[in-house]
Amino acid sequence: MPHATLEQPAFSPDSLQKIRDSIARYPEGRQKSTLLPVLHMAQAEFGGWLSVPVMDYVASLLGLQPIEVYEVATFYTMFRLKPTGKYVLEVCRTGPCCVVGAEKITAHLKKILGIEVGETTPDGLFTILEVECLASCGTGPVLQLGERYIENLTPERIDGLVSELRDQKAGR
Ligand code: FES
Repeated sequence: MPHATLEQPAFSPDSLQKIRDSIARYPEGRQKSTLLPVLHMAQAEFGGWLSVPVMDYVASLLGLQPIEVYEVATFYTMFRLKPTGKYVLEVCRTGPCCVVGAEKITAHLKKILGIEVGETTPDGLFTILEVECLASCGTGPVLQLGERYIENLTPERIDGLVSELRDQKAGR
């Protein structure tokens, strides 16, 4: 468990050790090379997103200026800069997926969840995001949910996925 409040974030001892090990792999002055994995750890450990205090904490751990962390965290779409729902549905919006119906999938998600892209359902369960190519163009439309890809999407598959996730949350 992380020892954290939003004001004073602190990694768990295990994570701190992993970060020290990671820093030790690089020559002195090259701590920035560990930034991406450390940001992934921070996002996982501090509630699924990177607040400014968390990014400042990462900067202090790696001996970086906060701006060096902000510019990386804001560049990559896998880092969240505000709280999200428990399930983040990232729909590919790039050309090949659009040709096979990605926009219809996003529209269907918006309709059944009652939110827009970038929003979270009031129960905190779902966030819809649109992302660029997920490198699964041959099986589009596709969405990413954590480490899982859901491919060849149809409105019916979306309905099934949303029910599955609701059941999972309810422990059914
Ligand atoms: Fe959607 Fe590549 S265009 S996965």
